[in-house]
Amino acid sequence: MATQPLGRVGIAGAGTMGRGIAQVFAQGGWQVVLSDPAQAQLSSAVDSISRGMDREVSKGRMAHAEKEEALDRVEAVSELSPMASVDLVVEAVSESLPVKQEVFGRLDRICRPGVILASNTSSISIARLASASGRPGETVGMHFMNPVPVMELVEVVRGAETSRETLSATHRIVKGLGKTPVEVNDSPGFVSNRVLMPMINEAAFCVHEGVGTAENVDAIMRMGMNHPMGPLALADLIGLDVCLDIMETLNDGFRDSKYRPCPLLKSMVSAGHLGRKTGRGFYRYGRRVQGDS
Ligand code: CAA
Repeated sequence: MATQPLGRVGIAGAGTMGRGIAQVFAQGGWQVVLSDPAQAQLSSAVDSISRGMDREVSKGRMAHAEKEEALDRVEAVSELSPMASVDLVVEAVSESLPVKQEVFGRLDRICRPGVILASNTSSISIARLASASGRPGETVGMHFMNPVPVMELVEVVRGAETSRETLSATHRIVKGLGKTPVEVNDSPGFVSNRVLMPMINEAAFCVHEGVGTAENVDAIMRMGMNHPMGPLALADLIGLDVCLDIMETLNDGFRDSKYRPCPLLKSMVSAGHLGRKTGRGFYRYGRRVQGDS
Protein backbone atom coordinates (compact mmCIF):
# COMPACT_ATOMS: atom_id res chain seq x y z
CA MET A 1 0.00 0.00 0.00
CA ALA A 2 1.36 3.41 -0.96
CA THR A 3 2.31 5.61 1.99
CA GLN A 4 1.03 9.16 2.38
CA PRO A 5 3.64 11.72 1.19
CA LEU A 6 5.14 13.98 3.90
CA GLY A 7 4.32 17.07 1.87
CA ARG A 8 4.79 18.52 -1.60
CA VAL A 9 8.09 20.11 -2.54
CA GLY A 10 8.77 22.03 -5.73
CA ILE A 11 12.29 21.90 -7.14
CA ALA A 12 13.02 24.63 -9.69
CA GLY A 13 15.80 23.52 -12.05
CA ALA A 14 16.64 19.94 -13.10
CA GLY A 15 20.41 20.24 -13.52
CA THR A 16 22.99 18.28 -11.54
CA MET A 17 21.90 19.71 -8.18
CA GLY A 18 18.15 19.93 -8.83
CA ARG A 19 17.90 16.27 -9.81
CA GLY A 20 19.96 15.15 -6.81
CA ILE A 21 17.78 17.24 -4.48
CA ALA A 22 14.64 15.80 -6.11
CA GLN A 23 15.98 12.28 -5.52
CA VAL A 24 16.62 12.78 -1.81
CA PHE A 25 13.20 14.42 -1.22
CA ALA A 26 11.42 11.62 -3.09
CA GLN A 27 13.38 9.00 -1.12
CA GLY A 28 12.55 10.94 2.04
CA GLY A 29 8.81 10.48 1.41
CA TRP A 30 7.94 13.80 -0.27
CA GLN A 31 5.83 14.34 -3.36
CA VAL A 32 8.18 16.17 -5.75
CA VAL A 33 7.31 18.64 -8.50
CA LEU A 34 10.51 19.01 -10.55
CA SER A 35 10.35 21.91 -12.96
CA ASP A 36 12.61 22.92 -15.83
CA PRO A 37 11.71 24.69 -19.08
CA ALA A 38 13.96 22.33 -21.10
CA GLN A 39 12.21 19.03 -21.89
CA ALA A 40 15.51 17.25 -22.63
CA GLN A 41 16.85 18.31 -19.24
CA LEU A 42 13.71 16.95 -17.53
CA SER A 43 13.84 13.55 -19.20
CA SER A 44 17.53 13.17 -18.48
CA ALA A 45 16.86 14.21 -14.84
CA VAL A 46 14.18 11.53 -14.38
CA ASP A 47 16.55 8.90 -15.87
CA SER A 48 19.32 10.01 -13.58
CA ILE A 49 17.03 9.96 -10.50
CA SER A 50 15.96 6.43 -11.45
CA ARG A 51 19.61 5.35 -11.81
CA GLY A 52 20.44 7.00 -8.48
CA MET A 53 17.65 5.04 -6.80
CA ASP A 54 18.84 1.82 -8.50
CA ARG A 55 22.17 2.45 -6.81
CA GLU A 56 20.35 2.55 -3.44
CA VAL A 57 18.50 -0.69 -4.30
CA SER A 58 21.76 -2.40 -5.31
CA LYS A 59 23.32 -1.36 -1.97
CA GLY A 60 20.33 -2.92 -0.13
CA ARG A 61 19.29 0.47 1.30
CA MET A 62 15.97 0.48 -0.52
CA ALA A 63 13.61 -2.26 -1.73
CA HIS A 64 12.70 -2.33 -5.42
CA ALA A 65 9.04 -1.58 -4.58
CA GLU A 66 10.10 1.44 -2.52
CA LYS A 67 12.10 2.69 -5.47
CA GLU A 68 9.06 2.43 -7.74
CA GLU A 69 6.95 4.31 -5.18
CA ALA A 70 9.56 7.03 -4.71
CA LEU A 71 10.01 7.46 -8.46
CA ASP A 72 6.23 7.69 -8.90
CA ARG A 73 6.27 10.60 -6.47
CA VAL A 74 8.41 12.63 -8.91
CA GLU A 75 6.37 14.72 -11.33
CA ALA A 76 8.38 16.48 -14.06
CA VAL A 77 6.85 19.72 -15.35
CA SER A 78 8.04 22.36 -17.79
CA GLU A 79 6.28 25.33 -16.14
CA LEU A 80 6.57 26.97 -12.74
CA SER A 81 2.77 27.28 -12.35
CA PRO A 82 2.33 23.82 -10.65
CA MET A 83 4.29 25.34 -7.73
CA ALA A 84 0.91 26.78 -6.70
CA SER A 85 0.21 23.48 -4.90
CA VAL A 86 3.52 22.95 -3.06
CA ASP A 87 4.37 23.38 0.65
CA LEU A 88 8.04 24.23 0.06
CA VAL A 89 10.22 25.28 -2.88
CA VAL A 90 13.92 24.59 -3.37
CA GLU A 91 15.33 26.72 -6.17
CA ALA A 92 18.26 25.16 -8.05
CA VAL A 93 18.41 27.11 -11.32
CA SER A 94 21.70 28.32 -12.79
CA GLU A 95 24.06 30.29 -10.55
CA SER A 96 23.19 33.72 -11.94
CA LEU A 97 21.72 36.55 -9.86
CA PRO A 98 19.33 37.92 -12.55
CA VAL A 99 18.07 34.41 -13.38
CA LYS A 100 17.47 33.57 -9.73
CA GLN A 101 15.85 36.96 -9.01
CA GLU A 102 13.45 36.44 -11.88
CA VAL A 103 12.52 32.95 -10.61
CA PHE A 104 12.01 34.20 -7.03
CA GLY A 105 9.74 37.02 -8.26
CA ARG A 106 7.63 34.50 -10.18
CA LEU A 107 7.54 32.03 -7.29
CA ASP A 108 6.22 34.75 -4.98
CA ARG A 109 3.30 35.34 -7.35
CA ILE A 110 2.61 31.61 -7.79
CA CYS A 111 3.11 30.06 -4.33
CA ARG A 112 0.65 30.21 -1.46
CA PRO A 113 1.39 32.74 1.29
CA GLY A 114 3.69 31.33 3.97
CA VAL A 115 5.41 28.79 1.68
CA ILE A 116 9.18 28.75 2.29
CA LEU A 117 11.30 29.66 -0.72
CA ALA A 118 14.70 28.03 -0.20
CA SER A 119 17.64 28.53 -2.52
CA ASN A 120 20.37 26.02 -3.24
CA THR A 121 22.63 28.90 -4.28
CA SER A 122 26.30 28.18 -3.63
CA SER A 123 27.36 31.80 -3.12
CA ILE A 124 24.72 34.41 -4.01
CA SER A 125 23.40 36.68 -1.25
CA ILE A 126 20.18 35.39 0.33
CA ALA A 127 19.22 39.02 1.08
CA ARG A 128 19.20 39.84 -2.64
CA LEU A 129 17.04 36.80 -3.40
CA ALA A 130 14.81 37.70 -0.44
CA SER A 131 14.14 41.16 -1.84
CA ALA A 132 13.22 39.65 -5.22
CA SER A 133 10.95 37.11 -3.52
CA GLY A 134 8.85 39.71 -1.71
CA ARG A 135 8.76 37.36 1.30
CA PRO A 136 12.09 37.86 3.10
CA GLY A 137 10.90 36.08 6.27
CA GLU A 138 10.34 32.88 4.27
CA THR A 139 13.50 33.06 2.14
CA VAL A 140 16.45 30.93 3.26
CA GLY A 141 19.54 29.19 1.88
CA MET A 142 19.36 25.38 1.72
CA HIS A 143 22.72 24.58 0.19
CA PHE A 144 23.20 20.91 -0.72
CA MET A 145 26.58 19.42 -1.62
CA ASN A 146 27.42 17.40 -4.73
CA PRO A 147 26.80 14.44 -5.09
CA VAL A 148 23.59 15.26 -3.22
CA PRO A 149 22.53 11.67 -2.40
CA VAL A 150 25.91 10.99 -0.74
CA MET A 151 26.92 14.14 1.12
CA GLU A 152 25.77 14.57 4.71
CA LEU A 153 25.89 18.38 4.97
CA VAL A 154 23.27 20.96 4.10
CA GLU A 155 24.53 24.51 4.74
CA VAL A 156 21.53 26.49 6.00
CA VAL A 157 21.97 30.19 5.26
CA ARG A 158 20.18 32.74 7.40
CA GLY A 159 19.37 35.92 5.47
CA ALA A 160 19.11 39.21 7.40
CA GLU A 161 15.32 38.85 7.59
CA THR A 162 14.84 35.07 7.57
CA SER A 163 12.36 34.32 10.35
CA ARG A 164 13.01 32.02 13.28
CA GLU A 165 10.06 29.83 12.13
CA THR A 166 11.56 29.46 8.65
CA LEU A 167 14.93 28.48 10.12
CA SER A 168 13.51 25.88 12.47
CA ALA A 169 11.33 24.41 9.70
CA THR A 170 14.41 24.26 7.44
CA HIS A 171 16.42 22.40 10.09
CA ARG A 172 13.53 19.97 10.62
CA ILE A 173 13.12 19.29 6.90
CA VAL A 174 16.85 18.75 6.34
CA LYS A 175 17.08 16.32 9.28
CA GLY A 176 14.04 14.48 7.91
CA LEU A 177 16.04 13.85 4.72
CA GLY A 178 18.73 12.15 6.81
CA LYS A 179 21.14 15.06 6.39
CA THR A 180 22.81 17.39 8.88
CA PRO A 181 22.01 21.12 8.75
CA VAL A 182 24.75 23.58 9.73
CA GLU A 183 23.63 27.19 9.97
CA VAL A 184 25.67 30.21 8.91
CA ASN A 185 25.01 33.88 8.19
CA ASP A 186 24.62 35.40 4.75
CA SER A 187 27.99 36.38 3.25
CA PRO A 188 29.54 35.80 -0.21
CA GLY A 189 30.25 32.08 -0.65
CA PHE A 190 28.88 31.46 2.88
CA VAL A 191 31.43 29.21 4.64
CA SER A 192 31.58 26.16 2.34
CA ASN A 193 32.64 27.96 -0.82
CA ARG A 194 34.60 30.73 0.87
CA VAL A 195 36.95 28.01 2.10
CA LEU A 196 36.69 25.45 -0.73
CA MET A 197 36.84 27.62 -3.86
CA PRO A 198 40.08 29.51 -3.08
CA MET A 199 41.70 26.09 -2.62
CA ILE A 200 40.43 24.92 -6.02
CA ASN A 201 41.46 28.25 -7.58
CA GLU A 202 44.96 27.97 -6.06
CA ALA A 203 45.24 24.41 -7.37
CA ALA A 204 44.40 25.78 -10.85
CA PHE A 205 47.12 28.44 -10.40
CA CYS A 206 49.63 25.67 -9.63
CA VAL A 207 48.85 24.10 -13.02
CA HIS A 208 48.68 27.48 -14.78
CA GLU A 209 52.13 28.46 -13.49
CA GLY A 210 53.63 25.04 -14.24
CA VAL A 211 54.30 24.22 -10.58
CA GLY A 212 52.71 20.80 -11.04
CA THR A 213 50.48 18.79 -13.35
CA ALA A 214 46.78 18.39 -12.49
CA GLU A 215 47.50 14.75 -11.58
CA ASN A 216 50.33 15.72 -9.22
CA VAL A 217 48.44 18.59 -7.57
CA ASP A 218 45.54 16.21 -6.92
CA ALA A 219 47.81 13.37 -5.74
CA ILE A 220 49.41 15.72 -3.19
CA MET A 221 46.05 16.77 -1.76
CA ARG A 222 44.67 13.21 -1.78
CA MET A 223 47.62 11.42 -0.23
CA GLY A 224 49.10 14.29 1.75
CA MET A 225 45.91 15.77 3.18
CA ASN A 226 43.61 12.75 3.00
CA HIS A 227 41.07 14.52 0.80
CA PRO A 228 38.74 11.96 -0.82
CA MET A 229 39.50 13.46 -4.23
CA GLY A 230 41.95 16.11 -5.43
CA PRO A 231 40.76 19.72 -5.84
CA LEU A 232 40.94 19.64 -9.64
CA ALA A 233 38.99 16.37 -9.92
CA LEU A 234 36.49 17.95 -7.53
CA ALA A 235 36.32 21.08 -9.72
CA ASP A 236 35.50 18.83 -12.68
CA LEU A 237 32.73 17.20 -10.60
CA ILE A 238 31.26 20.55 -9.51
CA GLY A 239 31.60 22.12 -12.97
CA LEU A 240 34.29 24.66 -13.89
CA ASP A 241 31.61 27.20 -14.87
CA VAL A 242 30.11 26.93 -11.37
CA CYS A 243 33.58 27.27 -9.79
CA LEU A 244 34.28 30.38 -11.87
CA ASP A 245 30.87 31.91 -11.03
CA ILE A 246 31.59 31.39 -7.32
CA MET A 247 35.09 32.91 -7.58
CA GLU A 248 33.56 35.95 -9.37
CA THR A 249 31.01 36.29 -6.55
CA LEU A 250 33.79 36.17 -3.92
CA ASN A 251 35.90 38.63 -5.93
CA ASP A 252 33.01 41.07 -6.40
CA GLY A 253 31.81 40.66 -2.83
CA PHE A 254 35.11 41.15 -0.99
CA ARG A 255 37.14 43.20 -3.52
CA ASP A 256 40.25 41.41 -2.31
CA SER A 257 42.78 40.21 -4.90
CA LYS A 258 43.18 36.90 -3.07
CA TYR A 259 39.88 35.91 -4.72
CA ARG A 260 40.89 36.71 -8.33
CA PRO A 261 39.90 33.80 -10.58
CA CYS A 262 42.79 31.89 -12.13
CA PRO A 263 43.20 32.75 -15.87
CA LEU A 264 43.40 29.01 -16.68
CA LEU A 265 39.97 28.48 -15.10
CA LYS A 266 38.58 31.37 -17.17
CA SER A 267 40.06 30.12 -20.43
CA MET A 268 38.82 26.56 -19.85
CA VAL A 269 35.29 27.85 -19.24
CA SER A 270 35.48 30.07 -22.37
CA ALA A 271 36.54 27.01 -24.37
CA GLY A 272 33.54 25.04 -23.05
CA HIS A 273 35.69 22.62 -21.04
CA LEU A 274 33.41 22.55 -18.01
CA GLY A 275 34.46 19.27 -16.40
CA ARG A 276 32.58 15.98 -16.29
CA LYS A 277 29.39 17.36 -17.79
CA THR A 278 31.11 18.23 -21.08
CA GLY A 279 33.52 15.30 -21.02
CA ARG A 280 36.57 17.53 -20.54
CA GLY A 281 37.95 19.68 -17.76
CA PHE A 282 41.25 19.20 -15.97
CA TYR A 283 40.75 15.56 -16.97
CA ARG A 284 39.03 13.82 -19.89
CA TYR A 285 35.94 11.67 -19.35
CA GLY A 286 34.50 8.88 -21.44
CA ARG A 287 31.28 10.49 -22.56
CA ARG A 288 29.42 13.75 -22.28
CA VAL A 289 26.76 13.57 -19.53
CA GLN A 290 23.61 14.69 -21.35
CA GLY A 291 21.53 17.37 -19.74
CA ASP A 292 23.76 18.06 -16.74
CA SER A 293 24.24 21.68 -15.81
N1 CAA B 1 25.70 9.86 -6.94
C1 CAA B 1 25.32 9.05 -5.94
N2 CAA B 1 26.17 8.30 -5.24
C2 CAA B 1 27.48 8.37 -5.54
C3 CAA B 1 27.96 9.19 -6.57
C4 CAA B 1 27.00 9.97 -7.28
N3 CAA B 1 27.36 10.79 -8.26
N4 CAA B 1 29.30 9.05 -6.65
C5 CAA B 1 29.66 8.17 -5.69
N5 CAA B 1 28.56 7.77 -5.02
C6 CAA B 1 28.51 6.85 -3.88
C7 CAA B 1 28.96 5.46 -4.19
O1 CAA B 1 27.91 4.65 -4.63
C8 CAA B 1 29.49 4.99 -2.85
O2 CAA B 1 28.40 4.63 -2.02
P1 CAA B 1 28.59 3.54 -0.82
O3 CAA B 1 29.60 4.13 0.14
O4 CAA B 1 27.25 3.43 -0.23
O5 CAA B 1 29.08 2.31 -1.48
C9 CAA B 1 30.10 6.25 -2.24
O6 CAA B 1 29.47 7.34 -2.91
C10 CAA B 1 31.57 6.30 -2.46
O7 CAA B 1 31.78 6.18 -3.85
P2 CAA B 1 32.98 5.43 -4.55
O8 CAA B 1 33.51 4.36 -3.64
O9 CAA B 1 32.61 5.05 -5.93
O10 CAA B 1 34.03 6.56 -4.77
P3 CAA B 1 34.73 7.43 -3.72
O11 CAA B 1 35.02 6.69 -2.47
O12 CAA B 1 35.84 8.05 -4.49
O13 CAA B 1 33.66 8.55 -3.35
C11 CAA B 1 32.80 10.71 -3.60
C12 CAA B 1 33.12 9.42 -4.31
C13 CAA B 1 31.67 10.48 -2.60
C14 CAA B 1 32.35 11.68 -4.67
C15 CAA B 1 34.07 11.18 -2.83
O14 CAA B 1 35.16 11.21 -3.72
C16 CAA B 1 33.93 12.52 -2.19
O15 CAA B 1 33.37 12.67 -1.11
N6 CAA B 1 34.44 13.55 -2.88
C17 CAA B 1 34.34 14.93 -2.39
C18 CAA B 1 32.99 15.48 -2.72
C19 CAA B 1 32.83 16.88 -2.26
O16 CAA B 1 33.71 17.51 -1.72
N7 CAA B 1 31.64 17.42 -2.49
C20 CAA B 1 31.34 18.79 -2.16
C21 CAA B 1 31.55 19.62 -3.36
S1 CAA B 1 31.27 21.31 -3.03
C22 CAA B 1 29.65 21.50 -3.32
O17 CAA B 1 28.93 20.66 -3.78
C23 CAA B 1 29.14 22.83 -2.97
C24 CAA B 1 29.16 23.83 -4.00
O18 CAA B 1 28.43 24.79 -3.84
C25 CAA B 1 30.04 23.80 -5.16
